[in-house]
Amino acid sequence: MSVKITMIGTGYVGLVTGACFAEIGHQVICVDKDAKKIEKLHQGVMPIYEPGLDELVMRNVKNGRLTFSTDVQASTKGRDAIFLCVGTPPHPETGAADLKYVYAAVEEVASGLDGFAVIVTKSTVPVGTNRRVFEIASKHANSKDFVAVASNPEFLREGAAITDFMEPDRVVVGVENDRASMLMRAIYEPIVTASIPFLQTSIESAEVIKYAANGFLAIKLSFINEVSDLCEAVGANVSDVAKGIGLDKRIGLPFLHVGPGWGGSCFPKDSMALYKTAQDFGVTMRLIESAIVANDERKLCMADRIKQYCGGSLQGKRIAVLGLTFKGQTDDMRESPSLVIIPQLQREGATVCAFDPSYPEGIDEMLPGVSVSKTPEDFCTNADALVIMTDWREFRSYDYKHFAESMKNKLAIDLRNLLDEKSMIAAGFEAYHRLGE
Ligand code: UGA
Repeated sequence: MSVKITMIGTGYVGLVTGACFAEIGHQVICVDKDAKKIEKLHQGVMPIYEPGLDELVMRNVKNGRLTFSTDVQASTKGRDAIFLCVGTPPHPETGAADLKYVYAAVEEVASGLDGFAVIVTKSTVPVGTNRRVFEIASKHANSKDFVAVASNPEFLREGAAITDFMEPDRVVVGVENDRASMLMRAIYEPIVTASIPFLQTSIESAEVIKYAANGFLAIKLSFINEVSDLCEAVGANVSDVAKGIGLDKRIGLPFLHVGPGWGGSCFPKDSMALYKTAQDFGVTMRLIESAIVANDERKLCMADRIKQYCGGSLQGKRIAVLGLTFKGQTDDMRESPSLVIIPQLQREGATVCAFDPSYPEGIDEMLPGVSVSKTPEDFCTNADALVIMTDWREFRSYDYKHFAESMKNKLAIDLRNLLDEKSMIAAGFEAYHRLGE
C-alpha cells in the first residue's frame, strides 16, 4: 500500500527519511520553510553530505514519488501521515531540548488538516512531548477525529543513514490509536521482516527508547575510552580487550572503538537531555552524568597527550590535524572533539594546520587561526606532529611517506587507532602513538 506522507523539515532526518520512504514506494512531499534549500533540492543540490543520498533523491524525483515544497498547509491536505522532523536544539543555558519548532509545526500542520492524519514525531523529543503534540493538534484541527499521534524515533547514523533506514535493527513506534497503528505498519511494511521487528509501544516508552539508546551507547563509549586509559597504564591492548569483551553477545562488538571523545548532533544533546529529563522527574541517573563528564574531560586529556608527545610544551610547535568532523564520512562539525582539542592546542602556544576531506562549511569561523587545506598533499609541511583526529576511511590509503618527508618532526599521534605502527614506521615516522596500547 502506497501511503501519502509529508515530511516537515528537510534537515538530515527529514530528507533522508523522506527519500527512503519514496524509495520503498510511498508518495512523499518534503517541506521546508527555507526557500533556498527547496530551490536547491529542485535543482538536485543536496543541503547535506550523505553517501548515496543524491542518487536516491534524483531517482525518486524522476519517478514522481518525491516532491518538495515550502508550503506547510498545502502539503498537509489530504495526506495520511505528517512526519515532524524539525530541529530540537539544546537550550543554551539549561541544555534541555528546545521544542519551539516542534510545537509551531504542529499548530500549522493541524490547522491545515482536512481529514484523518497521523502526526508522527521523528525529531528527538523529551518524554511527554507527544501528549502535548496531541493536545496542540486537537486544539488547532477542525475536528478532533482528524488527529492521532505517533512517536517514531530514528536510529540513523550519519554516513550510513540509507542502509540504516533500509536495514534497521528494529522499527519503534509509540502509538495508541488503532487506525494510526495500522497506518504506521503499512508505512514500514516494505522493510519489516522476521529479523527486523516492528515494535509497537506506548508513546512514553518510544520516547524513552530513543534517549536510552543514545545514552546507553554514549556510556558504552565513555566506558571503553576509560578502559583504554587503563590498558595504557597496565600495558594491555585496548583493541584486544574490546574484542575480548565484545565477543560476549551480551556486550556486543559495535561501539567499542576508542576515540578522542564522542560528538555529533545527537549523543551530546541526547545524553544531556536524558539526564535533565530524569532530574525533572526526580530520578537520579548517575551513569549518564558520569559519561558526559568523562567525555568532556577526555577531549582536554587528548590535547594534553599531544603536548606530552611533543616534549611537554607546545610553544612554537606546528601541529597538523588530519580530520576535523565529529566522525568520518560526514561534513558535520557539531560537537566535534576537534572544536575542543584544537583551541586547547592553540592556547598552549601551538599553530595548527588541518585537512578534512569534506572541507566543512564555515570551518574558518569555527576554528579561527587554523589554516585548513583543501587538499591533503602538502598540508603537514614543516609540522612537528601529525594528529589523526577523525576516522575517515580514506585516511588508510594516504601517502604517509610523503607526509613524513615533508614534516619537521616525524611524529604521528593516532587518536582513532586507524593506522598501524609497522607501516607508519616504514613510511618514515620515527614515532607513532595509538590509544590504549
Ligand atoms: C547516533 C546513533 O548512532 C544513531 O543510532 C542515532 O540515530 C543518531 O545518533 C541520532 O540520534 O540521530 P551519529 O550521531 O550519526 O548517530 O553518530 P555515531 O556513528 O553514533 O557516532 C557518534 C560519536 O561516537 C562519534 O563522535 C563517533 O566518532 C563516536 N564513536 C562511535 C566512537 O568513538 N567509537 C565507536 O565505536 C563508535
